[in-house]
Amino acid sequence: MTDMKLEDFQRICSINELNDNIGRRFILNDIDIAVFLIKQRVFALSNICPHLQTTLIYDGFIEDNYVVCPVHGWKFDLETGKTPSGSNGLRVFETKVVENEVYVKVNQKKFNW
Ligand code: FES
Repeated sequence: MTDMKLEDFQRICSINELNDNIGRRFILNDIDIAVFLIKQRVFALSNICPHLQTTLIYDGFIEDNYVVCPVHGWKFDLETGKTPSGSNGLRVFETKVVENEVYVKVNQKKFNW
């Protein structure tokens, strides 16, 4: 194990269980999360679209640095969760990959609006 601190992080899967540009859904501490592997980086965002609260962000497609909700096409920045106009959109979660295992930090629910 490296010296990276993994407190508050939870293991979700191995890196080879994620496919490039194809999201997967995980529920951690009752939080619905969409996880993407894009160019060797792992992103974790809320899986709940703020438009109609559908839980399909994991099934969205990737366009540049955005994930596009498959229902009506709202876009969210993979890194910040914000919409292209800069509005708050999706919560984002920190991720780490340690020894090929993927970890996500799910902390107390915090509203950012
Ligand atoms: S439910 Fe996501 S864009 Fe409408």
